[in-house]
Amino acid sequence: MSKILVVSGHPRLAQSLANRTILETLKEKGPDFTLLRLDEEGWEPQVEKDQALLKDADVIVFQFPIFWYSYPALMKHWVEDVFAHGFAYGTAGTALKGKKFQISFTTGSPASAYRAGGPNGHVMEDFLFNFQQIAALCGMEYEEPIYTNGCAYIPGVSPEFVKDRVIKDCEAHGAKLAERLKELLK
Ligand SMILES: Cc1cc2nc3c(=O)[nH]c(=O)nc-3n(C[C@H](O)[C@H](O)[C@H](O)COP(=O)(O)O)c2cc1C
Repeated sequence: MSKILVVSGHPRLAQSLANRTILETLKEKGPDFTLLRLDEEGWEPQVEKDQALLKDADVIVFQFPIFWYSYPALMKHWVEDVFAHGFAYGTAGTALKGKKFQISFTTGSPASAYRAGGPNGHVMEDFLFNFQQIAALCGMEYEEPIYTNGCAYIPGVSPEFVKDRVIKDCEAHGAKLAERLKELLK
């Protein structure tokens, strides 16, 4: 049976609303998956254990909030250590070849802010080229990203209706991801 590894890059998942909602919805509606929580693993990744998890998976999902137009530093640090030469890339580095690579993320800014001439200066896809290239270098199949904009909720500051909307949007996101993963397993 095909296997899914979901790597959660949120540095504080317990305090998350959007990414936690997506992961909870995926657990409820999606196919079985192994969850690797980088906030629990911390800044010293267990490289061999995590490489074995990656090797074992047919589908690799990166679940994260956008921080400074990219993935959180904790997740990038993990990639730097775990996607090593001779494992993920290089002549002998073929462990990830042929695997499906799905990115799934949330942003604080609304969709309208991601456009040329807008507050974020570029469309969302412009910020994703590095994931596409990671997939290309490692020989993985880059799947169409799934993302939800406008997920900024600050307890005690944001009005409650924002919380309700973020939960609703992220439940829809989780359901979409669940369907995508079922498709990818076929
Ligand atoms: C350090 C930091 C940097 C952020 N940078 C961005 C950014 O570049 N673009 C954006 O749209 N949102 C940005 N945000 C907002 C987060 O993406 C948003 O709060 C997150 O997606 C909500 O997910 P959560 O509830 O799981 O934490 C940033 C938030 C933090 C804390």
